[in-house]
Amino acid sequence: MAFPQRFLDELVARNDILDVVSSYVHLTKKGSNYFGLCPFHNEKTPSFSVAPDKQIYHCFGCKKGGGVINFIMEEENLSFPDAVRFLAKRVNMEVPEETGDRESGRLRQRVLELNREAARFYYQNLQQPEGAAVAAYLERRKIHRKTAMDFGLGASLDSWDGLLTAMVAKGFTKEELLAAGLVVQTKQGRLYDKFRSRLMFPVIDIRGDVVGFGGRVLDKSEPKYMNTPETIAYSKRRVLYGMNLAKKSKRPNIILCEGNIDVITMHQAGFDNAVASMGTALTVEQTRLLSRYTKELVLCYDNDGAGKAATQKAIELLNGSEFSVKVLQLPNRIVDGQPVKQDVDDFIKNQGPAAFEALLSGSENHVEYRMAAIAAKHNFADDQDRIAYAAEVSELIAQLPSAVEREVYAGRAAEQSGVSKEAILLEIKRAQRRFYAKEKKIQQRRELNPADQQQPSERSFHYADVRSAMAEEGVIRLLSRDESLFPLCAQLHHEEFSSPLLGKIYGALLAQQEEGQSSHVAGLSAVLTPEEMSHLSLVLQKPESLTNAQQALADYISVIQASYQKRCGDKETDPLLAAQERFQIKKGYGGKQV
Ligand code: UTP
Ligand code: MN
Repeated sequence: MAFPQRFLDELVARNDILDVVSSYVHLTKKGSNYFGLCPFHNEKTPSFSVAPDKQIYHCFGCKKGGGVINFIMEEENLSFPDAVRFLAKRVNMEVPEETGDRESGRLRQRVLELNREAARFYYQNLQQPEGAAVAAYLERRKIHRKTAMDFGLGASLDSWDGLLTAMVAKGFTKEELLAAGLVVQTKQGRLYDKFRSRLMFPVIDIRGDVVGFGGRVLDKSEPKYMNTPETIAYSKRRVLYGMNLAKKSKRPNIILCEGNIDVITMHQAGFDNAVASMGTALTVEQTRLLSRYTKELVLCYDNDGAGKAATQKAIELLNGSEFSVKVLQLPNRIVDGQPVKQDVDDFIKNQGPAAFEALLSGSENHVEYRMAAIAAKHNFADDQDRIAYAAEVSELIAQLPSAVEREVYAGRAAEQSGVSKEAILLEIKRAQRRFYAKEKKIQQRRELNPADQQQPSERSFHYADVRSAMAEEGVIRLLSRDESLFPLCAQLHHEEFSSPLLGKIYGALLAQQEEGQSSHVAGLSAVLTPEEMSHLSLVLQKPESLTNAQQALADYISVIQASYQKRCGDKETDPLLAAQERFQIKKGYGGKQV
């Protein structure tokens, strides 16, 4: 089922974590550790650390962590076996293949080949009489032939098995068609094409692989779009439509818009830096992909309720990130004196690319956008409402990190509302004080409750017995730092651990040791899930002195065993007796039933 431990140990030993991480993250030495900006979440101050002595990384911000294999899984978006292969290739090691993984790697390869053939099939349909309806639709939407070709647009047929038959004839199996999400199976086991009578958009990733498809109906029927489900090759959280082209753009930023057609219209109009997520709000994975190509994003979502909500969500996700974010607000179109909402596609077709270019160069940054949203809620002619506006906008400005920015926006808010700048600055000071007071309270509560502070952030790893768990963590830390301590643990069994996860880690460390393997915790990524490895990396980051390690270990063991005895004792108490006791105590308090 797995790679041999000996092989993994050598792999981990030859791929020094500092070397590997350094090729992705700029690291600076601080004490015995190295720090940098976390590649897994957006941040401005480094909270991502690498400990070369323990061969692990840990981010104090997003809590991700693990060994070198986990890092590659996360960073390169690979499964465990693929990450192992990746690292093996890096140091020219032969991989002892085992059949299961080779199968899954091969299946993915076949799915990609199948997707490419399917894209070709849809594309050819579009040039044939069968594709006339889709061709007419493209014409109606003013999408030129050349653009359609650049995006590899196609047509699925008005047939239950057009694709199925063509692909089986090319030698693809039913399993492969199902794995690609291109066909659907009925309860009776019959297969039929998922995409029928639709305009087809192949989704191409940055490597140029066709990972999936979107398909739009030509009329008003529902669902308007169908997308490839999650497959071995397609994850909607990780792809951006148009990114394969936008990554080559010479423009300084990337424009995020709402739909496939928007992206195509924008590229056609010369904005070859437009992308869209398909059927999902912007995700962290997508921002990581974007950060490889730009540090400036322009949000250009529809000017309706859903678009505004999407803008707000994206701003929250990007808040505090390294990106500078601008919001491009599309004006309504006035038709017969009435405002009509429009998306980018409408805007470019109605007003032309030059008008869009002008919007783009003047697009507001996100503070202005949020200020405008607050202003829109208030009526400045009303005194009471002006005060409410000042309070709300100050709350927003107070969160800005730079004093200069706070000055500038306070001035702008004053101008807009007619409240004096001094009054607004005073409000901002108040909002800041409230904010600090709240922070302090949270901090104090944490200090009053040290047990809470020790709890793992992952809820399923919750420590039922914090005192014992702290000692269990200590044992793991000591063993991972000094192998000579293992013999002292002969009498400590993993069943005695109160935390199932810490018990599992302890058991795995012992097993590694017994097999004569190195006790590099990074090697444990074969037996622990990424979440478990993240927790382990946190445990190992806590301080632990090696002076007097033997005494410390003995103390930890006695705490663990005493807690274990106590838990066993509790269990042995007759539950009926215990219930009766509780009942009597309650009666003692004036007979009140609770
Ligand atoms: P829109 O409804 O705004 O579509 O959905 P659109 O791309 O602007 O298409 P036109 O202009 O009406 O033809 C925006 C995006 O949301 C996803 C699609 O990726 C679409 O492009 N979506 C929409 C779905 O995944 N499923 C749906 O049913 C609708
Ligand atoms: Mn649209």
